[in-house]
Amino acid sequence: MIAINDVSVFSGVRTPFYYYDMELFDKTASFAAALSAEYGIKIDYAVKANSDVRMLKKLASMGFGADCVSGNEVLLAYGCGFEPSEIMFAGVGKNDKEIYDALKTGIGSFNCESLEELSVINAMAGHLGVRANVSLRINPNIDAHTHKYVTTGLYENKFGISEHDFDAAVSLIKQSRYLDFKGLQFHIGSQIVRIDDVYALECRRAGDIVSYFENKGLEVRNIDLGGGLGIDYECPDKYPVADFRTWFSVIDSNLPRRKDQTVYVEPGRSMVAQCGSLISRVLYLKKGETKNFLIIDAGMNDLIRPALYGAYHKIENITAFYVRKDDTDDFVYDIAGPVCESSDVFGTGRSLRKSMRGDLIAIRSAGAYGKVMASGYNCKDFAPVVYSDRLSEAPVRIDYFNKNK
Ligand SMILES: Cc1ncc(COP(=O)(O)O)c(C=O)c1O
Repeated sequence: MIAINDVSVFSGVRTPFYYYDMELFDKTASFAAALSAEYGIKIDYAVKANSDVRMLKKLASMGFGADCVSGNEVLLAYGCGFEPSEIMFAGVGKNDKEIYDALKTGIGSFNCESLEELSVINAMAGHLGVRANVSLRINPNIDAHTHKYVTTGLYENKFGISEHDFDAAVSLIKQSRYLDFKGLQFHIGSQIVRIDDVYALECRRAGDIVSYFENKGLEVRNIDLGGGLGIDYECPDKYPVADFRTWFSVIDSNLPRRKDQTVYVEPGRSMVAQCGSLISRVLYLKKGETKNFLIIDAGMNDLIRPALYGAYHKIENITAFYVRKDDTDDFVYDIAGPVCESSDVFGTGRSLRKSMRGDLIAIRSAGAYGKVMASGYNCKDFAPVVYSDRLSEAPVRIDYFNKNK
């Protein structure tokens, strides 16, 4: 169950909202930082997972770098205090303005995904009279054994430079007057739970590709293995801090590296997912012909992962758990949002405590790819963030039905 003392902490808060457990966030960040120091593996936080300013400032102050995938993420990371040299700019489709702004800001590296992108960066850097640090994002053709929509390292995916372009990339970099080559980057997918075999394979393949580029005369100083460490969506309370130790030890044992090389990883989800829950209220109970529906006030506009990928999130009725403690009967519900789409469903056939209008529902593990993917679809309001250590600042609920009581 979500880590709160009592459901009354939320009773006056307007729903839906994202609740961020800042104690768990700090614990996760501190654990990752300690292991980063122990294994000598640098961490660039993948800003796309959650670009919350408080979190970014905290991570910047702890010495993490930032992995960004848009010009606005680069500017945000810069504004939140990340060292420019620790800001990486990845992404398969950087536009001219984004490249221009990043060149002017000065960043750690552009992770380039095509030959044409390299040429454009070289030309723009020349035009501005600056040098650009570049790394190559490689498509290593490795199956991450995860959902097909978050698999990124196969030849069928749009990401990275494939083997047939390696030699051309080497010549282009050698001929380019304004590019400083930094290293190679890999990222094979997200929500990877087969840590041992998948990451071991990635490391061995990365080692071979690093050797290939070095044999062609490019010194690979930085080896970036990307992110992807999975979390437990089914049992978020079992190990709320992700298994960074296994991840780092697999890298340590399987990636050949010299002392003058720096190894990076880019976790997003594993840093922030478990500290976030989407808190919603039951609006209506509805008996369908074959199902019981719980219609809640959060929708796919707030959290799109279930509709987009069929993603699983644990769902809890926290009012029933904390208030109607003696009524332990479970009922089976489909939990759906208010949006006019049949895919606006957070879970089907879920066993939940007997639920009533007004009950608070927690959709767990929503700290990553939650709020950042929210939309204004159906002209719905954007769910605000409520921090565990700033509950008194939460937006207040107006209870229309009971307002005269
Ligand atoms: C290049 C790159 N690095 C890092 C990440 C972060 O992945 P995750 O949130 O699974 O750790 C992503 C996610 O898509 C990515 O595309």
